[in-house]
Amino acid sequence: MRTEQARPVRLQDYRPPDWLVETVHLDISLHPTATKVRATLNLRPNPGTSPAPLVLDGDGLSLSSVTMDGQPLAADAYVASPDRFTLAQPPQRPFTLTIETVVDPSANTQLMGLYRSSGTYCTQCEAEGFRRITYFPDRPDVMAVYTTRIEADKGQAPILLANGNLIESGDLPAGRHYAVWHDPFPKPSYLFAMVGGTLGCVEDTFVTVSGRKVALKIYVEPGKESRCGYAMDALKRSMRWDEQAFGREYDLDIFMIVAVSDFNMGAMENKGLNVFNDRYVLASPETATDADFASIEAIIAHEYFHNWTGNRITCRDWFQLCLKEGLTVFRDQEFTADMRSRAVKRIADVRNLRAHQFVEDAGPLAHPVRPQVYQEINNFYTTTVYEKGAELVRMLRTMLGHATFRKGMDLYFDRHDGEAATIEQFVQCFADISKRDLAQFMLWYAQAGTPEIIADGEYDDAKKIFTLKLSQIVPPTPNQPVKEPMVIPLRTGLVGSDGADLPLVVSGSPMAGDVITLNQPAATLVFENVSERPVLSINREFSAPVKLTTNLSAEDLRRLAAHDSDPFNRWQAVQTLATRLLVKNVGLLQAGQNAIPDEGLIAALAAILADDRLEPAFVALTLTMPTEADIAREIGHDVDPDANFRARIYLRNEIGTKLQSVLEETYRRMQNGAPYSPDAASAGQRALKNTALDLLAAPGGKVGIDRAIQQYRSADNMTDRMAALSTLSLHDVPERTEALQDFYERYHGDPLIIDKWLTLQAMIPESGTLDRVRSLTSHPAFSMNNPNRVRSLIGAFAHGNATQFNRADGAGYAFIADAVLTLDRKNPQVASRLATSFRSWRALESGRREQAQAALRRIANASTLSADVNDIVSRALA
Ligand code: PHE
Ligand code: ZN
Repeated sequence: MRTEQARPVRLQDYRPPDWLVETVHLDISLHPTATKVRATLNLRPNPGTSPAPLVLDGDGLSLSSVTMDGQPLAADAYVASPDRFTLAQPPQRPFTLTIETVVDPSANTQLMGLYRSSGTYCTQCEAEGFRRITYFPDRPDVMAVYTTRIEADKGQAPILLANGNLIESGDLPAGRHYAVWHDPFPKPSYLFAMVGGTLGCVEDTFVTVSGRKVALKIYVEPGKESRCGYAMDALKRSMRWDEQAFGREYDLDIFMIVAVSDFNMGAMENKGLNVFNDRYVLASPETATDADFASIEAIIAHEYFHNWTGNRITCRDWFQLCLKEGLTVFRDQEFTADMRSRAVKRIADVRNLRAHQFVEDAGPLAHPVRPQVYQEINNFYTTTVYEKGAELVRMLRTMLGHATFRKGMDLYFDRHDGEAATIEQFVQCFADISKRDLAQFMLWYAQAGTPEIIADGEYDDAKKIFTLKLSQIVPPTPNQPVKEPMVIPLRTGLVGSDGADLPLVVSGSPMAGDVITLNQPAATLVFENVSERPVLSINREFSAPVKLTTNLSAEDLRRLAAHDSDPFNRWQAVQTLATRLLVKNVGLLQAGQNAIPDEGLIAALAAILADDRLEPAFVALTLTMPTEADIAREIGHDVDPDANFRARIYLRNEIGTKLQSVLEETYRRMQNGAPYSPDAASAGQRALKNTALDLLAAPGGKVGIDRAIQQYRSADNMTDRMAALSTLSLHDVPERTEALQDFYERYHGDPLIIDKWLTLQAMIPESGTLDRVRSLTSHPAFSMNNPNRVRSLIGAFAHGNATQFNRADGAGYAFIADAVLTLDRKNPQVASRLATSFRSWRALESGRREQAQAALRRIANASTLSADVNDIVSRALA
């Protein structure tokens, strides 16, 4: 096996940079295959360190020339290889280095550095892409002021953009032109960006709280301008919200977003010039679903919020990635909660956390929110760093209270503006403001694994006390066999028979607030003056990202489902009832017996459906049963995806049959006849309507299928059309074939819509799906070169189709292994992301486990492998 470079990087080895860069002048002359880059760096020795050689990072670079202080360098004064430039004996004083390199953007299939997407020149520098453009100390603690001059053929690239403000532009001989951009804010190289191409533009303005006028521009493929309205609106709302919620004002005269069709991730927060995967910008009622609108709103906000959390204050090193990502996810989640429904957002986020982060944390790729070592940083843009990272910030707020939390944030912005900071510095701000010791809290950043909490309550009717026994276990994870107890903030209530909360009295006095903090392996709490037997409602709002086991009875759970004042735990109670049933039925089915119904669960769902004070979006989430992955996670070992699937199908049929009339009534009631609007309330009504449609069709009767095909045909928006198609996709009926064909014919000119068509087919839980997916890989709509196409078809199959990816014959694994190997030659980041679909292989039953292991070994043994894929498969197999 050959790997690109073996380089475990360790947090404990961090050393400050030997050399600092004051200013960078870039002169970029765009050419499809030979773009010239001249970088002028004003360097100076870092005053805090001892004399050292100058070592600049490179990646696949070819040097054309180099001068120092304007003089050519002697050939023996430096060494330049594709991945390094070294001056062994630089003068120990400030000096200027001018380096010319040539890069080929058309050959760049990794989509890191400078590349072309549908003809547009664009850059992606996070995490280590800048070194593919020029030699540079490519690490986030080297912050410099950038001036960028771009020149290009005016016909090919009439639009030339870079970070900061435009300071000059003009025409040049021979049909060329140029633009000069200056960004006054020092920044790390990973935030550099430039764009050149033929692009349409939508413009608006924003006046900041202090009265500064900011030009807002969204650049898209010409002809797509009419699909930018929602993104622009989301941007303006984000800018206002950050002023109000965090006191953060925008700081340049212009803010630009560019949408490109080839992008490895969702979007990138380059200073003043965010570059987006176009699927997170473009939307219209006819082309985008409610879920698409919601993602656009969240990602526009996320990238905008990075301007303060990530850009003004950046990360000292990549181990601190959660400093910007966890915090910024927290901020975008709060934004969405304020824009939409807080309860619904929380439930959606927790579902997502459990479906991805808990799974990662339970398998061989588990790592702490702040890792201590990495082989390849690209593999650490994970749900653990992002979503669990956000949970840690939320826990800080839960522990300190909202007002103190906000003061801590203010202190952080104040103290570290313009710096490259660490998690310790972030947490210290909250410790200083609150005068609390947060040392134990730091374990959340260092220990991987999802803590397992047991909460058992017991009521003593004679003494009128409720005794709560709590205990915690943090399971072993790779390289972390033994764990320290964590600090776990648990929002708690005691729910009386009428559904109201009983007062919380401890040691003779009312509790201040509702947060219980468990910081020992076990603890016992006694609530006094409890007038009646209460039902424990704990971890309200999912205040801590833990697995919780309680001794609540089915009857207790139904009380919470019907009455809990915390909507999260109302939803959770139904999920817990359903999960208990599903796990029981999996066991029965595996033993060759029949699955059994649960009338109590059906009654709880009926009660939720009948409660017209509830938001439709909440009802829709409550009616959505735990996924196959949820069941697999609950069972934890020797997982048989077919049995999980059958148990879930059985339950959906039960609900569709037993609640038929109320679901039909709900389906009718949720059609309001108003023209489509993407707002949260209307989206919630559609969500409930479409959940009802889907459950009604679950038993497979003609009426349900007819209703779905009817909705498919008459829909006037993509949400309703896709929902109907998705319902049909689960049934092997002629209407499905007809609708899939019709969908392709309607939308084949629009790749982002065809992605939905690819995904839907990849997720069909039938044995013919693998062949279908295989043949779709040679469909003209598909391309291995475009990450969105790959993720929509192959990624959806691997990550979203539990029964078919995990086929007992191993053919699903073999197909994905082949795809990983093929992709790895073009785009290692996309390939390694796909390889993470194997992350739960050890939890499978033995036959599948062997098949998956064989597929992983085959990848590992390939003659050439990127560092990215090598890292994932070797950790998966370890
Ligand atoms: N920093 C980006 C974000 O989360 C994600 C990203 C990482 C994009 C690496 C591209 C490359 O906002
Ligand atoms: Zn981010």
